[in-house]
Amino acid sequence: MSLLDVDNLSVKHGVLIALDGVRLRVDEGQIVGLIGPNGAGKTTFIDTVTGFTRATNGQITFDGRDITRAPGHQRSLAGLVRTFQSLELFDDMTVLDNLAVSTQSPSLWATITDALWPKSHDLSHAHRVLDLLDLWPVADRLPTELSNGQRHVVALGRALASSPRLVLLDEPAAGLDPTETAELAATLRKLPAIGTSVLVVDHDMSLIMNVCDTVHVLDFGKVVASGAPDQVRHNPKVIAAYLGRPPAPGEHADER
Ligand SMILES: Nc1ncnc2c1ncn2[C@@H]1O[C@H](COP(=O)(O)OP(=O)(O)O)[C@@H](O)[C@H]1O
Ligand SMILES: [Mg+2]
Repeated sequence: MSLLDVDNLSVKHGVLIALDGVRLRVDEGQIVGLIGPNGAGKTTFIDTVTGFTRATNGQITFDGRDITRAPGHQRSLAGLVRTFQSLELFDDMTVLDNLAVSTQSPSLWATITDALWPKSHDLSHAHRVLDLLDLWPVADRLPTELSNGQRHVVALGRALASSPRLVLLDEPAAGLDPTETAELAATLRKLPAIGTSVLVVDHDMSLIMNVCDTVHVLDFGKVVASGAPDQVRHNPKVIAAYLGRPPAPGEHADER
């Protein structure tokens, strides 16, 4: 049984068909890539799986439960967590506090103790994320004081702070330099071992090809190719989707 099983998923924005019969699975321990040109429907896919957008048709199963109509907070409690292209950090809180607010237990007891003693909540999860992502040097800084690369790492940290079963990352390498992207790749590779499977959307082919077990390619809301990174990169449909024309002999999708 797959951890995430998306079957025949369609989403309409008004008359626009943003997703059209998408089938995609993520198994426990996998890192799965989702790529495609701008406007292909990648963010809509993450929105719909995490409950920010409603499916028009199809079924989303997570950990054996049908969550197609479940509200977003139930999905995140079940261990399905996302990041945003726009990062969505709390700019007036330190890095540590950004992580700490994302780890808090939703139990009634935690709510009461937080209200009575605001600093009493358990920081051990947040500390583990600081360890994992090497964020201790900036733990007391505000996100606005960090580089773009560090802000991306904090956004990833917020998603990981609740120890999710599956994290869906929307363009985590956007604006990162090659060194930062290589560090991100190394971090993503560690996640399955600590119990977090990954679905990653990105335009950076080196990241996708280096970390993913399986890659799916979206074009105009449809999956046009799926397979191991090497198979997908040589697929003529993928090259055509990226370049908008048939590939020249010997041309690859990552040579845009
Ligand atoms: N809330 C929305 N309302 C209307 N159209 C939308 C909305 N969100 C996305 N779209 C449209 O849906 C299509 C897919 O967008 P998106 O999922 O953001 O693509 P990607 O992330 O692959 O660039 C695009 O044509 C986009 O303009
Ligand atoms: Mg997007």
